[in-house]
Amino acid sequence: MCGIVGYVGVREAPLILLKGIKRLEYRGYDSSGMACILSAKKKISIRKSPGKIKVLEDILSKRPLSGVVGIAHTRWATHGFPNQANAHPHLDCNSEIALVHNGIIENYTPLKKELLKQGHKFSSQTDTEVIVHLIEKFLKCSSLEEAVRKTVRRLEGSFAIAVVSAREPDKVIGARLGSPLIVGLGKNENFLASDVPAILDSTKEIIFLEENEMVVLTKDTCKITDFNGHAVQRKPTRITWDISLSQKQGYKHFMLKEINEQPEIVENLLGRRINQETGRIIFEEQNIPEEELRKIRNISIVACGTAYHAGLVGKYILESVCSLPVSVEVSSEFRYRDLIIDQETLVVAISQSGETADTLASVRQAKKLGAQVLSICNVLGSTLTRESDGIIYTHAGPEIGVASTKAYVAQLISLYLFAFYLARVKGIANENKIKHYLEDLKKIPQKQREILKSQRQISKLAQRHAYFGSFLYLGRHINFPSALEGALKLKEISYIPAEGYAAGEMKHGPIALIDEYRAVVCIVCESHVYEKMISNIQEIRARKGRIIVIATEGDDKIKEQAKEVIYIPKTNELFSPLLTALPLQLVAYHIAVKRGADVDQPRNLAKSVTVE
Ligand code: AGP
Repeated sequence: MCGIVGYVGVREAPLILLKGIKRLEYRGYDSSGMACILSAKKKISIRKSPGKIKVLEDILSKRPLSGVVGIAHTRWATHGFPNQANAHPHLDCNSEIALVHNGIIENYTPLKKELLKQGHKFSSQTDTEVIVHLIEKFLKCSSLEEAVRKTVRRLEGSFAIAVVSAREPDKVIGARLGSPLIVGLGKNENFLASDVPAILDSTKEIIFLEENEMVVLTKDTCKITDFNGHAVQRKPTRITWDISLSQKQGYKHFMLKEINEQPEIVENLLGRRINQETGRIIFEEQNIPEEELRKIRNISIVACGTAYHAGLVGKYILESVCSLPVSVEVSSEFRYRDLIIDQETLVVAISQSGETADTLASVRQAKKLGAQVLSICNVLGSTLTRESDGIIYTHAGPEIGVASTKAYVAQLISLYLFAFYLARVKGIANENKIKHYLEDLKKIPQKQREILKSQRQISKLAQRHAYFGSFLYLGRHINFPSALEGALKLKEISYIPAEGYAAGEMKHGPIALIDEYRAVVCIVCESHVYEKMISNIQEIRARKGRIIVIATEGDDKIKEQAKEVIYIPKTNELFSPLLTALPLQLVAYHIAVKRGADVDQPRNLAKSVTVE
């Protein structure tokens, strides 16, 4: 939701902090700010503003900050309109403490009342501001570390905070509960950040803080404790991917770069996961014992957004290959239901970021009921992975575009491979079938490259449809979730109303929408439901709907049904979502670009929804 960065060292902090929050802009970008300590004068200076980070950068160029200790923040508003007063950092009454925060303080109202009664003056409508005034209150009779510890123990909700004080100008203090916070270890300098890209330029030695932990950093020391003050020992993790992966590498947008990365991501993932000689499937961090997996009688998939659509595809795969009942539910519903799950239920949590609040809450609920939890996640060391019994990393590299693309396809690959792995563990695998499945999977990257070769035609087709007022996406069976995902891609980056539907449901309502002003995207690749899709297309044509079809190469019959056709290479029907995803992503991308939308940072959205 928001991005925070902290620095303490020997170099000028403002430049490091600015670069850091720029790398976190995908987490939120409606206001930003920075605070530095002028240690000579033992004074805190602050600059902040609504708008993107560029606005802050312009302010800093006119009124620069200086100092070797500081914090910075890029915001996605949850409480208080994005304006000057509500932008972070926030200060205490005497401007001796500055704080930035990512998360939501759920008990901020009673805390604010208490602090107002004690004479504290507030200057914003944010929930965050109660934190810095609590620290001020406790600092009167404690060290900064102790004051922060007493403060976080009063907070309810979620927070990742970074704090500096002119009274102890040699340190930055961080603490986390429910929102991510990492420590970067350098030479004569140390860092705090919400996510790795913010500090990867300066260090690859990262410590992922766990829930209920805080850290006191000076330029030479790093002291981690829990909220009761007990010391915590944590070895740093060395991050292997470099910062260039987080850059656009010549593409106009991160999203286009990430769409084009997919063949390589799939190739690398298959290479990492399948032993070439034996065909064995390898999940290094899948730590649920095989005998536990053999007891599984049903699978419950929880996720949000695109990850939920991946879960829906997973349902078809797991039910077909593992003959197990599979339910798929959005996390925000799952977490509040009277769940019927137990030790024989495997909960599979899918999340690109590993920080989605509803998915984390669902996992915690499931574990309370005795379920084993397997997470399929893209971010190493994220909160979800540290609360799961088994992990399957998707290794898609940093996904910066808010609209998920490569992470989705990597989630699908992980679900296919997990289905084959589970079938083998349960002793129900048809080895001959799996052998052919794996051979078909290995051909996917090349088939994706084939599709990417026709980006120019897809772009032209998309532009011809860029000004339709609304879209309907239709698919059947394993491509019904593809239709949902295609609609989500379009709506979230172009802001055009778009709805995904099971094509068989058309006559149960959506057909009333069809007329010449509506574009209908139909996924009609070679499959056992092909003829049914043709009937749907004919019904749409009879009502003058404007049809875009995704079909299989070599299908000449489809040309009788539709002029606007995007072809994908022939493939096993089970794997077709790995291919249909690409034209759906590209159509959404090119329509959004044509409409001048902010593709990588769509309005109102954030890359990771770390609050409810
Ligand atoms: C996808 O394009 C969206 N950005 C959004 O729906 C996303 O998939 C959802 O918020 C889940 O995020 P996660 O995978 O990080 O949990």
